[in-house]
Amino acid sequence: MTILVTGATGQLGAPTLAALRAAGQEAVGSSSTGRNGLRSADLFTGQGLDEALRGVETIVHCAQTGGRRDLRLARNLTAAAQRSGVGHLVLISIVGIEDIPMPYYDQRVEIEKIAGASGVPLTIQRATQFHTLIDQIFSAQRRLPVVIAPASRFQTIAVPEVASRLAELAGGGPQGRVDDIGGPEQLGVGELYRQWRAARGGMRPSLQLRLPFLKAFRGLDAGANLVPGEPFGRETFGQYLRAKYGARR
Ligand SMILES: NC(=O)c1ccc[n+]([C@@H]2O[C@H](COP(=O)([O-])OP(=O)(O)OC[C@H]3O[C@@H](n4cnc5c(N)ncnc54)[C@H](OP(=O)(O)O)[C@@H]3O)[C@@H](O)[C@H]2O)c1
Repeated sequence: MTILVTGATGQLGAPTLAALRAAGQEAVGSSSTGRNGLRSADLFTGQGLDEALRGVETIVHCAQTGGRRDLRLARNLTAAAQRSGVGHLVLISIVGIEDIPMPYYDQRVEIEKIAGASGVPLTIQRATQFHTLIDQIFSAQRRLPVVIAPASRFQTIAVPEVASRLAELAGGGPQGRVDDIGGPEQLGVGELYRQWRAARGGMRPSLQLRLPFLKAFRGLDAGANLVPGEPFGRETFGQYLRAKYGARR
């Protein structure tokens, strides 16, 4: 049984491919260019897609462009999967997307619908924000006098833990939407920033935005991005920071 991981050069796709191979699965990856031994399949144009799906029984879809184009990626992929008789599509999605309306999340809702309507047997795994995302949001504001973030709680999760979960799901049969997964802690953005600043250095304060007139902020305020109950993830944001940046003296 060959498993194909789309977006295999990406931050989630690469460790997912590695996790599948470590589990002894026959797994291949694809990207739009097909460099480094990957199959070449441009999911936006459809070029190379049918060839890339030859002999593939299961797809783990981790490719994205980060915007509206992702709807077309999903349509092209699911249509090709139907044509070639793929038996299982594993889709990564995000916790709480219908309750946090913003363009990127609205698109993830649409992608879930496209996949659901395609007729390809499906498993949808929603995950919370990755540790790397919060790190990127703070890092991107390095040159500002304050760091701005929504005054919300997050339950960030380690990318390798999401990758292992996708690999596990791909090794089994279609399950529809499975239980959401999140990291081990629910932390306010002030605490996340405190930890990040301790790891990276600097004294800049954070400005926590409260915009209750925006539905997306109301969704975050209500904790729609969190996963109640026993957490799935084990690595904390602090452990992620120490592994990446080292312990500061
Ligand atoms: N970040 C978070 O907090 C978070 C949380 C939960 C779920 N997720 C979901 O996780 C998924 C993966 O995210 P990521 O951060 O790993 O993405 P990423 O690092 O941006 O990787 C995107 C991948 O898509 C490939 N790609 C881009 N355009 C393509 C095209 N036209 N055809 C084929 N492949 C194309 C890229 O490879 P090439 O450019 O080489 O083709 C790359 O391998 C997304 O669906 C995201 O919504 C993210």
